[in-house]
Amino acid sequence: MEFLRHLVVLIHLVGFAVLFGAWVVELVNGKRGITRVMHWGLAIAGVAGLALAAPWGIEYDLDYAKIGTKLVILVVIGALLGIGAGRQRKTGSVPAGIFWLIGILTLANAAIAVLWR
Ligand code: HEM
Repeated sequence: MEFLRHLVVLIHLVGFAVLFGAWVVELVNGKRGITRVMHWGLAIAGVAGLALAAPWGIEYDLDYAKIGTKLVILVVIGALLGIGAGRQRKTGSVPAGIFWLIGILTLANAAIAVLWR
């Protein structure tokens, strides 16, 4: 059970890496757009995160204030990806504020996971 939970944490981290990695690629290549890969990363991190939000394979209590905060941030990132992709389709580019917020909030969620103890 514990091994299975660690496996789900690994999948969760892959989702984070895919989302944040895709965002960094867009930052560095100067296009600053929203890509399909970002949506995939968010979906992977989200599904694995929800699985981890249930108390199985652990002997300690989960911090639901922390998990709830991460869930709210995930929903906001999802909304920004949706709005940004819509604007990209219509105007050909993503507003800078939306693009930056996606990266900052993704990093914030990882920081909350690691630093909120
Ligand atoms: C973009 C969104 C997210 C990012 C970047 C992210 C990032 C991370 C990272 C880096 C860890 C590993 C922390 C560590 O092992 O010390 C982690 C763990 C965890 N995340 Fe997330 N997360 C996200 C969304 C979510 C969501 C939506 C939930 C739940 C609703 C969630 C629930 C958890 C839980 C419960 C753990 C602890 C797993 C354990 O140690 O058993 N995460 N997250």
